[in-house]
Amino acid sequence: MYAKRLYIKTFGCQMNVHDSERISGLLRNKGFRLTEKPEEADMIIVNTCSIREKSEQKGYSDLGRFAQLKRDKPGLVLGMAGCVAQQEGEDVLRRFKGLDLVFGSSNIAFVPQMVQTITLKSQPVVMVQEPPGPPRTTPADRKDRVRAWVSIMEGCDRNCAFCVVPTTRGRERSRPSAEIVQEVTHLAEAGYKEITLLGQTVNSYGKNLDEGVDFADLLAMLNAINGIERIRFTSPHPSDMTPKLIETMAELSKVCEYLHLPMQSGSDAVLERMGRGYTLDQYRRIVGRMRQFVPDMAFSTDIIVGFPGETEDDFEKTLDAVSEFEFDNVYYFNYSRRPNTPADRFEEQVSESVKAARFERLSTLEKGLARRKNHGLIDTVQEVLVEGRSKRDHAKFTGRTRSNKLVHFNGADDDVGRLLNVRIAAAGSTCLEGIRIPSGSR
Ligand code: 5AD
Repeated sequence: MYAKRLYIKTFGCQMNVHDSERISGLLRNKGFRLTEKPEEADMIIVNTCSIREKSEQKGYSDLGRFAQLKRDKPGLVLGMAGCVAQQEGEDVLRRFKGLDLVFGSSNIAFVPQMVQTITLKSQPVVMVQEPPGPPRTTPADRKDRVRAWVSIMEGCDRNCAFCVVPTTRGRERSRPSAEIVQEVTHLAEAGYKEITLLGQTVNSYGKNLDEGVDFADLLAMLNAINGIERIRFTSPHPSDMTPKLIETMAELSKVCEYLHLPMQSGSDAVLERMGRGYTLDQYRRIVGRMRQFVPDMAFSTDIIVGFPGETEDDFEKTLDAVSEFEFDNVYYFNYSRRPNTPADRFEEQVSESVKAARFERLSTLEKGLARRKNHGLIDTVQEVLVEGRSKRDHAKFTGRTRSNKLVHFNGADDDVGRLLNVRIAAAGSTCLEGIRIPSGSR
């Protein structure tokens, strides 16, 4: 039978990447197979992101390009998923005449029915209403065979002044723990070695469930699953890094020594206006406590540059904090005004030129820090989970340390999915190079 071709273009966070895996998993059961070429597709879905204006624009521009393919192929089904779809709903149909399908991330489970409706009716289908109940478990078409994303909750109950997520992904909803345990057990049986638990504020997992299970309890349940070697999660909110969670992370052998803990700013005044719910000192205590329990913990963070009202002094506090915490990695973004967020209405917006200059200063600091941190690993032996051949140098293999650093090393195809010991020989600001050593020798 002729398999219909599906092309998915994904923008944005890991959650979106995994949502695309779920869309494709569901449509696989309807006879669709993924293609890398939009021009040979029978259905194209753009999974959009609205976290910053630029990401939103990129989604629209791709949709415009794909809509043109319909001229030669009127039967082509064009869909828009993700946060911009959720934000715009029906309005988007006016902007793009060619759209057949518009749905939000909470409606993914209904994609097969929506596609069926399109084939029966010749009208576009829009579904952005959040269905009642917990997020539904769906199949997922995972490309990677070693590492898997697992969504444990959707939405966000925090109201950070800069962020569009509460309006695009709705209120916080956790999946029942038994369904997560079952999904991870199946992943282990299928040979997966590493899982990354996903949620907008992943460590507030369980708050809205009646089970009495919190994120630390969930980690313990997953740690007990045979075959899974590593557990990661993203992104936690500092206010939910409870003492219990920190101690549990230290105790559980599979939870990796790496934490992405978004700080956003090093200035209390800015943190307050952002509505983050912590001060720099509270953040400092969390990092300190984590390092007390897990001395070699690696940290990364997110920083917003040029939030409304950010003064030179505020920004310098951010630079100081970044140096103080010696982050292994900093992801930084110029503040972008988002519709229907409190910060969009704040006066004292920072000019683009000031943002650009501050961005450069943070970039220089970050690169130096990352290089120094990575240099510190030279001559150490790191456990690496082998992912596959290196894209940069096909003769080499790549994998990550438990602290989430990318390593290039000499390996073999048989090693994919295995844990190897690699002695680090060289380091740059973004990756390490090493030589594998026989297991047992250190
Ligand atoms: N402008 C710039 N960066 C933003 N982020 C979220 N909203 C905005 C915005 N309006 C950043 C935050 C968050 C990361 C995923 O994106 O740092 O942690």
